[in-house]
Amino acid sequence: MGDKPFLTDIKTLRERARRHIEQGAVTEGYSADRETVIKLLNEALATEIVCVLRYKRHYFMATGIHAEGVAAEFLQHANEEQGHADLIAQRIVQLGGAPNFSPEGLLTRSHAEYVEGDTLNDMIREDLVAERVAIDSYREMIAYTANDDPTTRRMLEGILAMEEEHADDLVSLLETIGA
Ligand SMILES: [Fe+2]
Ligand SMILES: [Fe+2]
Repeated sequence: MGDKPFLTDIKTLRERARRHIEQGAVTEGYSADRETVIKLLNEALATEIVCVLRYKRHYFMATGIHAEGVAAEFLQHANEEQGHADLIAQRIVQLGGAPNFSPEGLLTRSHAEYVEGDTLNDMIREDLVAERVAIDSYREMIAYTANDDPTTRRMLEGILAMEEEHADDLVSLLETIGA
């Protein structure tokens, strides 16, 4: 039986909390590499913005007999990707970073690509590829943050679950249009 205490004693906790109060949510107990987490989150932010733009383009350009239902799905995804971008930007600020919204280099920072596609079929396929890229990159980020930054990890887990739903929706759409 070790006598190592499970929790930091109250006196130490209280003293630590008083140091560097200007860092807000980031305490001395934060064990992740903050700079790296912020960098990864800015890449995820770029990915989400590129996905918003691609889904918006697809929403406005959807044509053909199945266009209406598919366009509605594109719009819903665009709005949900925007929600993800907002969550990520908020977390970057909480961690003491600055969200990068610069259009310059956006595509380079993004994991997913921006492909316009000509037909409804092309558009859905490109969106599906982008979702699959997002799914894998979120999974890696979740593994990286692990127990060092549980708040970021939980946020990423929520986003990952929705990207999986998006991918699933797109596969159903492909079946609906008979592609
Ligand atoms: Fe997203
Ligand atoms: Fe998505």
